[in-house]
Amino acid sequence: MARATALAAAVALALAACGGDGDGGDGDAGDGGGDVEVFTWWAAGSEKAGLDALVGVFGEQNPDFTFVNGAVAGGAGSAAKDLLQTRLQAQDPPDTFQAHAGAELQDYIDAAQIEDVSDLYDEFGLTDVFPADLVDRLRSDDGAIYSIPSNIHRANLVWANPTVLEDNGIDPETAYADLDAWMADLDKLKAAGITPLSVATTWTQVHLLETVLLASLGPDAYQGLWDGSTDWEGAEVTTALEDFEKLMSYTNTDRDGLDWPEATQLVIDGGAAFNVMGDWAVAAFEEQDKALNTDFTVFPVPGSDGVFDFLADSFTIPVGAPNPDGAKAWLETVGSLEGQVAFNKAKGSIPARTDADPAEFSEYQQTAIDSFATDTIVSSLAHGAAAPIATLNAISDATSKFTTGASDLAAFQSELAAAAMG
Ligand code: GAL
Repeated sequence: MARATALAAAVALALAACGGDGDGGDGDAGDGGGDVEVFTWWAAGSEKAGLDALVGVFGEQNPDFTFVNGAVAGGAGSAAKDLLQTRLQAQDPPDTFQAHAGAELQDYIDAAQIEDVSDLYDEFGLTDVFPADLVDRLRSDDGAIYSIPSNIHRANLVWANPTVLEDNGIDPETAYADLDAWMADLDKLKAAGITPLSVATTWTQVHLLETVLLASLGPDAYQGLWDGSTDWEGAEVTTALEDFEKLMSYTNTDRDGLDWPEATQLVIDGGAAFNVMGDWAVAAFEEQDKALNTDFTVFPVPGSDGVFDFLADSFTIPVGAPNPDGAKAWLETVGSLEGQVAFNKAKGSIPARTDADPAEFSEYQQTAIDSFATDTIVSSLAHGAAAPIATLNAISDATSKFTTGASDLAAFQSELAAAAMG
């Protein structure tokens, strides 16, 4: 390891001595040129706008390389992750792919599908620019680091349409102490014939489930679901699942045919009052010129105030990447201050880097930067931080069975417990 680091440093010095571009490292990650296939699920709408912003910086920093968009549609990687696994197993990897920090990344590490990129942290000057807790979620047990993070998202948020609320006699500034208080207003909306809460296909239902578990159990017991210290078969989980069942009864019936942009759009257009979604949703509101606290409001899922349900996207170099120099150049852009500012401004997330100026970001993002610094941090289930992909898949299957009426609450709870056992 030390020898590899010294070698990387020597190569960097030699490149600098050759003239380089004198810009402090941008654009010299590799100079082989050629196509760089970047595999994500940021295929459309505000997510693609975020990717496009990053691609713009990549083009400026690496004019010799050509970005090739390998995006596969489907929120939260709902289609992309299976396809990626097929490609990795067929030894047909893209040059770089998106992976969530935490347990999901560990899956790829354990399967020896991604390269150790620790040396790039020294080479790109990244060693001290990310929060230590985040880097720990990118690290394997042997201490090596396997990806470079692009952003941090918050999952436990409710997005609301204040006009719909006012029109139905609900004060949009109401601070709900817990799920019960919120559901009292959901009842009013339902009685008025308004869709109280919008949701979409299975992964968004799992996203809702995770935030309800968090709100109902509290952060310690929620985290305990992932380290075995909270009993999935216990009464407190039953209570949380009852809350989830009740919340699902307030949702749109066409949910299984929608993805998150359509569910959030229902709130934007006034077709629903509330939507539980991560803060990539803010980019959808902003893209349509909607103003915070006028056209929309946002607050933590009731009962989870003071908790930041965390996830982070990061980029890897797969073993056998056709253009590893190109992948390295992409990772350099992802980790750069310029790349993080451009990407996160468009994506709704906050930079993973700690040295970005908060004033560059929207009012919502500035609150997220503060919350990330002060709140209790827990790991998202639906977005790869808390549990391995196999566990998430089994939980998703159980959730879909339950919400389509193919299982009852007791069976659902047992299936969740079995899924969490692995
Ligand atoms: C998450 C991802 C976010 C956002 C979201 C919706 O898994 O980390 O960046 O894209 O899915 O697709």
